[in-house]
Amino acid sequence: MELTVAEVVIPDQVRLRHAQLCEEIEEHRYKYYVLDAPILSDAEYDQLEMELRDLESSHPALRTPDSPTQKVGGAPTTQFSPIQHLTRMLSLDNAFSEQDLVDWMVRIHREVEAPRFLCELKIDGLAVNLTYVEGVLTSAATRGDGVTGEDVTLNVRTIRGVPDRLSGTPPQRVEIRGEVFFPHLEFGQLNAALAHSGQKLFANPRNAAAGSLRQKDPRITASRPLRMIVHGLGAHEGISLTQQSDSYEVMREWGLPISEHFRVFDSQEDVVDFIRRVGTKRHDLEHDIDGIVIKVDSIAEQERLGSTARAPRWAIAYKYPPEEVTTKLLDIRVGIGRTGRATPYAHMEPAHVAGSVVEMATLHNQEEVIRKDVLIGDTVILRKAGDVIPEILGPVYELRDGSERAFVMPRDCPECGASLAAQKDGDVDLRCPNAATCPAQLRERIVYLASRSVLDIENLGLQAAAALLSDGILDNESRLFSLTPDDLSASEFFTKQQKDGSRVLTANALKMLSSLDNAKSKELWRFLCALSIRHVGPVAAKALAKEFMSLAEIRRASAAELAAVEGVGEVIARSIKDWLTVDWHLEILDSWERAGITFVDQEVESDIPQNLVGVTIVVTGSLPGYTRDSADEAITLRGGKSASSVSKKTHFVVVGENAGSKADKAEQLGVPILDVAGFEVLLEHGPERAMQVSGRGDL
Ligand code: IVH
Repeated sequence: MELTVAEVVIPDQVRLRHAQLCEEIEEHRYKYYVLDAPILSDAEYDQLEMELRDLESSHPALRTPDSPTQKVGGAPTTQFSPIQHLTRMLSLDNAFSEQDLVDWMVRIHREVEAPRFLCELKIDGLAVNLTYVEGVLTSAATRGDGVTGEDVTLNVRTIRGVPDRLSGTPPQRVEIRGEVFFPHLEFGQLNAALAHSGQKLFANPRNAAAGSLRQKDPRITASRPLRMIVHGLGAHEGISLTQQSDSYEVMREWGLPISEHFRVFDSQEDVVDFIRRVGTKRHDLEHDIDGIVIKVDSIAEQERLGSTARAPRWAIAYKYPPEEVTTKLLDIRVGIGRTGRATPYAHMEPAHVAGSVVEMATLHNQEEVIRKDVLIGDTVILRKAGDVIPEILGPVYELRDGSERAFVMPRDCPECGASLAAQKDGDVDLRCPNAATCPAQLRERIVYLASRSVLDIENLGLQAAAALLSDGILDNESRLFSLTPDDLSASEFFTKQQKDGSRVLTANALKMLSSLDNAKSKELWRFLCALSIRHVGPVAAKALAKEFMSLAEIRRASAAELAAVEGVGEVIARSIKDWLTVDWHLEILDSWERAGITFVDQEVESDIPQNLVGVTIVVTGSLPGYTRDSADEAITLRGGKSASSVSKKTHFVVVGENAGSKADKAEQLGVPILDVAGFEVLLEHGPERAMQVSGRGDL
């Protein structure tokens, strides 16, 4: 660059003082306007500005457009002006399966003797590059195209944990690379606040991080709980390092935010084991991750392996199967549940999400369809909530082409034609009132009573239930427990053809009949559930069975007596009483009794200690060695209460694999958390001993 005459004649010490003043003034403006935490009095600050103005009037060449004297008053704004990185910011190649990853490790093994692999979380945020000169943060830029990014210095300086000044003995100049992210918990709170004030929500924490970092007004960035984790060095002068993992320790000493979760492994098996282990706990972390980054730890080997134009050869990103994908919403249909509720559900082009293929997702009710703002024909964002239930998050508005159409809730039941109606004013749910003969309700009731959590009847799923009804074998569930092989022999579904052309019952059909027979002696609460009385689920059914021991006693009890049972209440009591006034319901009871069901629980002497009386426990995620039911049973057999949602009244939350938001909620509320071992201590020794082992395991 050519220098002007004016610049040439400015003495060095003037130029230096000018630079110092500019830096100091910027710093104080930032503290005053952005952080709202000035450290100078107004008079002291004015003194600095005055000195700067005086200098500039004696040496006008110093009055460049970036001088604080030339910037319009008020809060400094982020201009996103271009900043060139000293060294390129590379991306990463991806491994989309364990096999891809192993292939990469095998290739590395060919080139590197006894490589050690550094494994880190791949944080789903935004890459930034911080430049520290003589230990002072002088600029922060987004990645941009890898060569040039945008200046977001003022905004990055508001991020908690990013030091303005490095401690120890940092090099003369160093580029620090890392990821800015929006923590999960605060993300939920931000969206709740945005929803409350009627503003547009962020689709995910990554968008919230990007939206918060790319603010012209750094005060807005400062108001958001952004965080950063460092994952590498760019240009660095005057330090030599042998392992990348050592560089993290060094950077930690400089005061930079380094992840707790990196590990170094010698063997491929350990690397694969690490990605699986983290995979099961990925939702317990404070931020989203979209994979694991595996790096060759030796810096000499990194240099030898080099990079392509896009990505280093010495690192790879293993990507977990996506949990959010887009797919086409082909139709919105309406399903009728066992209690008649009409539920709109999405029928989509099959999409792979979180390890399985999804083509259906419930939309709950017509208000939810409106709230989600989805149209038939939209491309929609689909995810698996808690890795299990598929959920549509919303449409991709940019892909609409005008051919989409709105869903209209039908007036009539799609299966029996009865008029759908709300049960009472203000109910969002519409119901089919035809509980006696609507084929959908009959089918769903049979499937439910046969399900594992109720009577656990083998081979009585949706297809078998549909065949029993459509082949005219059953009119409703009343004759279910009196079925004979003869009844099934005319049905194609339950029979198979023999060589001589005659038909015999299939093995599955025979198993179903014997399973129906065996079920007759099951506990009373299971039969109470099997009747599909509205609101009567396992919790209420168990409480009623425990209190009354027989259906006859339940029928004899008044609504008030039923309501007084812990876990029952007025709504359920009323629902039971109403149910018992309907003739065809009573016929079901008679018919089941004739088939040998007693509806009576035998008094059993239990030697199980009642050490959980008054203790409420929530089990979330899958617990090794337990099914959901067996965990519930272990709690209730000891007199405890197994609840499904976490509140201040919860005494313990037991966290298994793939646990979701309930674990976060517990942490937030300070409810003691147990792993499976702690759960066993709780069952065996009661709450006091369990308190001593509560806490959360590390990765
Ligand atoms: S290393 C030269 N480590 O993922 C190596 N990147 O998809 C460059 N990322 O641009 C990156 N967590 O912004 C590295 N632990 C981690 C990371 C990470 C997230 C981001 C980074 C990169 C992108 C590539």
